Amino acid sequence: MPEGRRSIVHWLLKGGFTASVASFVYPALRFMIPPSIPEASVNEVAAGKITDLKVNSGKIVKFGSRPALLIRAGETEFKAVSAVCTHLNCTVQYQDASHQIWCACHNAFYDTNGKVLSGPPPGPLEEFTVRVRGDEVVISKRA
Ligand code: FES
Repeated sequence: MPEGRRSIVHWLLKGGFTASVASFVYPALRFMIPPSIPEASVNEVAAGKITDLKVNSGKIVKFGSRPALLIRAGETEFKAVSAVCTHLNCTVQYQDASHQIWCACHNAFYDTNGKVLSGPPPGPLEEFTVRVRGDEVVISKRA
């Protein structure tokens, strides 16, 4: 085979091999390093009916992809905070006996406004605004 044809065949084989390797490696890399997809941001959620919650009780509701804690402190008094502990992201819960929010992971306490009372959390829980629309409780992010 003449030298010119040989180099063309050699070049085509190298290119084919490179394309084959790329076709295996590229999908594997895309799988290992997925593209960042921004999380849909939620600013407001319907947390249920007023009658779903007894006075002096709390319940976890879904606020976007994270949990929120809705507390019914009085007949017409509702509070809501992020249910994600600011220490190591455990889910907090309302303790009706102490009227406080408790993180079981490291025995931390917050008041119902999310302020740290004791334990290792470095900061308060994010507070949300609560409105009652008709018989429904609506939680929203503060502006
Ligand atoms: S995770 Fe809540 S106190 Fe540690």
